[in-house]
Amino acid sequence: GTSSVDGTIAKRAHYAPPWADVSIIGIAGSSGSGKSTLSQAIVSKLNLPWVVILSIDSFYKSLDEEASRKAFRCEYDFDAPDALDFDVLVDRLRDLKAGKRADIPVYSFEKHARLEQTTSIYSPHVLILEGIFALHDPRVLELLDMKIFCEADADTCLSRRILRDQRERGRDVEGIIKQWFSFVKPNFERYVDPQRKVADIIVPRGVENQVAMTMVTQFIQQKLLEKSTHHRAALTRLEIGALSE
Ligand code: CTP
Repeated sequence: GTSSVDGTIAKRAHYAPPWADVSIIGIAGSSGSGKSTLSQAIVSKLNLPWVVILSIDSFYKSLDEEASRKAFRCEYDFDAPDALDFDVLVDRLRDLKAGKRADIPVYSFEKHARLEQTTSIYSPHVLILEGIFALHDPRVLELLDMKIFCEADADTCLSRRILRDQRERGRDVEGIIKQWFSFVKPNFERYVDPQRKVADIIVPRGVENQVAMTMVTQFIQQKLLEKSTHHRAALTRLEIGALSE
């Protein structure tokens, strides 16, 4: 009868397939603390398809001309939460949670600007969200399945940044050091470090920390297993429901 058809539709409407329920892992920590290396290590240790790294750096806001000139003089503050577009980030994360495709801006550190092109992410099973402010916005925190704070000594962070910013971001040592002491270091103390209070785990020494690496990957694997078991149980319920009609 009509009522059983309606009943089936109602049940289907309540069932969300597992690919619509991406697990999101947030990794925050100081600039140069090794967040991207840690993310890559988690990806290769998981050794699963559909694991994607999303850097919050993709969501740096575009600058007007005056701000851009400041940026090239290393006088622009990229280490305050205001520099990032959290509204767009939250929208994209919600889209991914809903099983929709998300277009991600491409950011150039050399140009201090968003490029014309975008990339897109579609249906990952695991998304690793890394960036100095990965654990900052309450709307983001709500979407995270695991919150990691990556820790390293300040001299380690600064050394890594000096090498990387020269090699990969078109900077010179004077500028890097000026920016570090004007913005990176004070804002680390003000905004970045306090995020450890909301972290589930704090990882000292990054990828070298085998115990933490194993804990993180086992946790993710467990989550995925729960989801697929849940998925199978839900399908079985749907089938039994259909049979009994
Ligand atoms: N930044 C910059 N110029 C821009 C935009 C951002 O110098 N136009 C800097 C900010 O000062 C911020 C840093 O980029 O401190 C954020 O990237 P960082 O955390 O250093 O790089 P990740 O690869 O995300 O992390 P990690 O170094 O821990 O691997």
